Amino acid sequence: INNKSVELGDGKGKKGTRVKVYGRIHELRVQKTTTFITLKDGYGYLSCILPAGDLTKNYDALMFALETALVVYGEMRAVPEGVKAPDNRELHVDYYKVLGAAPSDLDAITNRVSKEQDPWDAQMLDNRHLVLRGENASSVLKLREFVELAFIDTYREMEFRKVSPPAMVQTQVEGGSTLFKYDYYGEEAYLTQSSQLYLETVMQSLGNVYCIEKSFRAEKSLTRRHLSEYTHVEAELDFIDFNDLLDHLEEIISRVVDKVLADETMSGYLKALNPNFQKPSRPFLRMKYSEAIEWLNKQDPPILNEEGKPHVFGDDIAEAAERRMTDIINRPILLTHFPVEIKAFYMKKDPQDPRVTESVDVLMPGVGEIVGGSMRMDDYDELIEAYKKNGIPHEPYYWYTDQRKYGSSPHGGYGLGLERFLAWMANQHTVRTCSLYSRFMGRCKP
Ligand code: 4AD
Ligand code: MG
Repeated sequence: INNKSVELGDGKGKKGTRVKVYGRIHELRVQKTTTFITLKDGYGYLSCILPAGDLTKNYDALMFALETALVVYGEMRAVPEGVKAPDNRELHVDYYKVLGAAPSDLDAITNRVSKEQDPWDAQMLDNRHLVLRGENASSVLKLREFVELAFIDTYREMEFRKVSPPAMVQTQVEGGSTLFKYDYYGEEAYLTQSSQLYLETVMQSLGNVYCIEKSFRAEKSLTRRHLSEYTHVEAELDFIDFNDLLDHLEEIISRVVDKVLADETMSGYLKALNPNFQKPSRPFLRMKYSEAIEWLNKQDPPILNEEGKPHVFGDDIAEAAERRMTDIINRPILLTHFPVEIKAFYMKKDPQDPRVTESVDVLMPGVGEIVGGSMRMDDYDELIEAYKKNGIPHEPYYWYTDQRKYGSSPHGGYGLGLERFLAWMANQHTVRTCSLYSRFMGRCKP
């Protein structure tokens, strides 16, 4: 179906190429005089026309159901004026063979699923292996692959090097409460929450570095945007200041979006999934945490904190409040300078105001936070103090601490959730549909 270069006939004088095509039935319409099939093979879709008569009277044709695997032979023709078909062509079938029949009970699932996309429905989640065959799921996954490769391309253009840090670790990065613990030959170990600390140990050798690896979080709540296992795009930049980090974030997000829009196939999927998608205009809005607190309180009615009270400095901006803010402002926000208390131990304090950190979250309409990043504490004593303050035993971090001993440097980095990035771009209600087989509390199958 991928082969778009074959000669097309016109059904009148001009003969088209006779081809042989493998695929599965995506759509089926049986009429008195003709059977119409849309065939799919993962590369694309093809309209097939089977005239009534000997061809469809046999037993096999009665077995046609969605997902039936077929091989069809016939002449490829341009569609007549006014007829809509994928790639404006149709196959006039003169012979076929069923390779793998499908019971028609599957129709209900694949159909329902591709049309409704209800990500909370347990039946849908149990049948994810079949849901994947729907057009929406297929488009999201194709877009996902492209976006991941677009990040890789962009990093290469920027001369960042890719590394692959370990997933099995003995240190936490983002707090003990979301650690997945397991037994490692009798020692306690964890599934990594973030590769950041490891990235901070290789830029001395490789320059600016990045990785695209799985991160794991034992999130004990069910939300639209939390997974237990997600794909984490992380980068670490050496010899920079906070402004460089913000500029870089804006640049890489814009470039990845540009690559998607510049690709005809991908922009087609994007248009189908999110007809209203607009390339974010630059510069992104830059807003300090303290300004956000004011903004939330200034709304009419005010957007309240988790206790139902007006926000005060030091409050976490919870998921709901953050999303409302992002939806109202309706453009990407670089939210910066979060208070020390609500951020991770490794974040560098703002030299102008030590109550806050040189930290940034990138917020997108519809999703909220898609990136978390910061400048890193580069002073040895300050880092030792930070472990203490956060109740983290410093011994297991000796390799991380050592970086502050041997030629420390001003540096910073970030992590971007690939599923959240996609949920934003493809307008998905939840990150669950942006993952092949999503993992979250209560679900570890299929
Ligand atoms: O804000 P987080 O926790 O930051 C870090 O892990 C840093 N150590 C990254 C770094 O600086 N290298 O996570 C970063 C991003 C979030 O903004 C979000 O997009 C995604 O990772 N994320 C999740 N995505 C899905 N499910 C979860 N449970 C996620 N937790 C974080
Ligand atoms: Mg975060």
